[in-house]
Amino acid sequence: MSILTFLARRFIAGEKIEDAARVIKNLNQNGMTATLDILGENVKSEQEATQKADSYIQALDVIDKERLNSHASLKLTQMGMDVSDGFCYDNVSRIFEKAASLNNFVRVDMEGSDYTRRTLDLVYQWHQQFPNMGTVIQAMLFRSLEDIKELNRRKIRVRLCKGAYKEPRDIAFQDRRDINENFVSLMRLLLKEGDYPAIATHDEKLIEATKEFTQQEGIGKDQFEFQMLYGIRRGLQLRLAQEGYNVRVYVPYGTHWLPYYLRRLREKRENLLFFISNFFKD
Ligand code: FDA
Repeated sequence: MSILTFLARRFIAGEKIEDAARVIKNLNQNGMTATLDILGENVKSEQEATQKADSYIQALDVIDKERLNSHASLKLTQMGMDVSDGFCYDNVSRIFEKAASLNNFVRVDMEGSDYTRRTLDLVYQWHQQFPNMGTVIQAMLFRSLEDIKELNRRKIRVRLCKGAYKEPRDIAFQDRRDINENFVSLMRLLLKEGDYPAIATHDEKLIEATKEFTQQEGIGKDQFEFQMLYGIRRGLQLRLAQEGYNVRVYVPYGTHWLPYYLRRLREKRENLLFFISNFFKD
């Protein structure tokens, strides 16, 4: 195993579906559900994007056959969005169809702001045909309040996160306090008016704010779920599950792990220092 692969293993289940299945089984045994992600983004050819969609279809079969309690999450730039929206629409529809036939659910992740409008336009179209799908909204973007209102109106399930991409200041909050404040208002709106929202954060203050709000408003623990990433704050994941909250863990696997890994490194300075110190070790 190369040093890079060794370091990436902290955040990534492994290279094969069997690795992800093992991780998911373990999460399920500990009272948590999962959403499986096949790593990869910005695919430039129809052929590769078709193969990636085929891999998702196979993965949905594995989830079904092994009776794993897991959804799937995907990125549209892996599915051919950089080729054309029309191609991407047809390619991903195959995955939604498969998920519907297995009574499963697939979520479209949100990428950088260059893709937000197009992603939401596709999501609105898909959802009319496939109610078993949802998407993600990033608290750092100014536009997110209006997007959530529209998604709630259409009863499309939303995962709320802070946002993992560097965005320009004319369209996005830069200060962590502003992002957190917006996260709390959006979280409240989703919990009051949304359809089974997912509150995706490892930030204990935001998790506490969510618990407090749901208790105040009499919103049951079965009306929403917390989501976290594989390898981050495992103790907190388990604790919330033991307190009776629904906890879903995002489990990425595959060989194209570098962009995902770099986003995780950027999120925490200590990660970068750990990476640098290990990279230069004999
Ligand atoms: P924050 O970054 O403030 O971290 C809070 C605490 O969590 C830290 O103090 C630390 O303890 C721990 N922590 C967080 N990140 C860590 C890391 N990398 N390494 C070690 N510890 C860490 N983004 C996006 O743009 N589009 C998307 O589709 C998704 N999807 C998604 C799904 C799920 C299930 C999750 C949890 C997150 C995403 N994200 C995402 C990523 C999200 O936008 C955000 O970048 C990360 O969740 C980090 O933000 P936190 O809310 O955890 O807060």
